[in-house]
Amino acid sequence: MFVVKVLWCLLLIYHLSEGKKIKGIRAVGTEQRDVLREKELYVSSSVFRLFLGGEDTCTLDPLQLHTLTSCGFNSSNPLIIITHGWSVDGIMESWVMRLATAVRTNLIDANVVLTDWLSLAQQHYPIAVQKTRTVGKDIAHLLQALQEHYKYPLRNAHLIGYSLGAHISGFAGSFLTGPEKIGRITGLDPAGPLFEGMSPTDRLSPDDAEFVDAIHTFTHERMGLSVGIKQAVAHYDFYPNGGDFQPGCDLQNIYEHISQYGILGFEQTVKCAHERSVHLFIDSLLNKDKQSMAYRCSDNSAFDKGVCLDCRKNRCNTLGYDIKKVRTGTSKRLYLKTRSRMPYKLYHYQFRVQFINQTEKVEPSLTISLTGTKEESGAVDITFNEKISGNKTFTFLITLDRDLGELMLLNIRWEASPLWENVWDKVQTIIPWRTWERKRLLNVGKVSVKAGETQRRYMCFLRASGIKPKVFLDCCKFSCFNQSFFSRHQKNRNCSVFNCLSITLV
Ligand SMILES: *[C@@H]1O[C@H](CO)[C@@H](O)[C@H](O)[C@H]1NC(C)=O
Ligand SMILES: *[C@@H]1O[C@H](CO)[C@@H](O)[C@H](O)[C@H]1NC(C)=O
Ligand SMILES: *[C@@H]1O[C@H](CO)[C@@H](O)[C@H](O)[C@H]1NC(C)=O
Ligand SMILES: *[C@@H]1O[C@H](CO)[C@@H](O)[C@H](O)[C@H]1NC(C)=O
Ligand SMILES: *[C@@H]1O[C@H](CO)[C@@H](O)[C@H](O)[C@H]1NC(C)=O
Repeated sequence: MFVVKVLWCLLLIYHLSEGKKIKGIRAVGTEQRDVLREKELYVSSSVFRLFLGGEDTCTLDPLQLHTLTSCGFNSSNPLIIITHGWSVDGIMESWVMRLATAVRTNLIDANVVLTDWLSLAQQHYPIAVQKTRTVGKDIAHLLQALQEHYKYPLRNAHLIGYSLGAHISGFAGSFLTGPEKIGRITGLDPAGPLFEGMSPTDRLSPDDAEFVDAIHTFTHERMGLSVGIKQAVAHYDFYPNGGDFQPGCDLQNIYEHISQYGILGFEQTVKCAHERSVHLFIDSLLNKDKQSMAYRCSDNSAFDKGVCLDCRKNRCNTLGYDIKKVRTGTSKRLYLKTRSRMPYKLYHYQFRVQFINQTEKVEPSLTISLTGTKEESGAVDITFNEKISGNKTFTFLITLDRDLGELMLLNIRWEASPLWENVWDKVQTIIPWRTWERKRLLNVGKVSVKAGETQRRYMCFLRASGIKPKVFLDCCKFSCFNQSFFSRHQKNRNCSVFNCLSITLV
């Protein structure tokens, strides 16, 4: 992982320093603002191809509009324009066709257009950056031609851009100064260097379309640079796994990539986290029954504590194509965890465990397992970064790749510390806290669980509650009840604190 990041940075720094000779990267754009109004012959630097299926495409010429019809462009249908990013080798990356195919699988009638700006993209990074406005203008011209000659409604257009392509899509939107805006722009890990911290007119921003969404997957910063932009640039900004790096992209996955991509495997490892944004989007098109849900949160560490699984007031949304297009004033940062491969979806559970009267400080390591109406979770390890003392409620996040259904049972197993083992050598028992008041006991009070995907809440109580604490073999078993069930039966239950101690020795 470290090596991958260093490689990326060296690559970027090399290209950035090479480009220092070119001045005025940002100044170019402003005078181009009104270029669209000029009626002169416009020469596009980019090539547009209508995707036909498989590997087949048909080249469009915005000046020769009959090419649109002869290629099979149907102006009653939605338009998706896919734009690639910076290119090291001048070869169209394989994800472009995969994404186009996935779009067509989902939207059979859509016109899928691929922007080919490889000749400009295959330059030193800062020069490629400089060309992004030019390519944005090319797209704007294509859209304007469609608007004029086909009465094509701009709101039917959805621009999907990866890396530099994300900012290109934004520029396309800002060149269209008429009353109508592009319907949607999706930025797939919008490029960071030379865009981070820039004003909204110099990068992708929510003003560029009716609705803008972005997926940030490689924002890990090294020497002040990150490949993907860190700041929010859309109405909804998704940060899978915190956004800085992605599971399955470590250097140890290189062998897997080499077996999959051959000699390109190394390059694939380097691009892995950046390109993950594309594959998450493809996933949302291909696995309709496994849509990933993301939740608004202030930052990733708050998200890891599990405190953000709330869906009220549009605080959560679906990652990818089927996002709920709710326009909001401010950018919303949404977080989620994903698997390392497709389908990426994980189910999020928030846990609140109340510890009571902890007389001695303990740093417990818990294993939790859940049983639902559909599935069991298996053991999930929880480690606390702080010691537990006094009365304290801990919240944490657990993610599972299966849908458990309605939660019914919860087992908490406490792995005792080595110190304990000396005392409790080969003992495996459970003792009411009263007996061992001065020993290190773990008194668990209320446990509540919230499932992010279903927004269901559960309260869990130690089984055999209200009766004398029972001897359990090696863990505390809780029964869980959903909130509607709980509120109806609350009166009948003794909801006061239950004591739970479990010692497990290997
Ligand atoms: C365009 O698409 C519409 C509906 O998707 C269809 O009814 C129409 O026949 C298509 N036109 C052509 C020329 O294929
Ligand atoms: C906690 O300890 C206090 C005194 O230290 C005691 O009064 C109280 O009953 C205890 N509560 C529980 C729930 O054990
Ligand atoms: C914990 O809370 C109980 C009541 O819920 C209280 O009696 C006890 O003193 C508290 N213990 C500590 C250490 O704060
Ligand atoms: C509820 O629990 C408390 C403490 O565990 C106990 O003193 C009390 O008798 C219980 N009440 C009922 C109705 O079981
Ligand atoms: C709550 O749980 C009860 C029993 O476990 C079940 O009958 C009921 O359908 C559940 N309600 C909801 C809203 O899940």
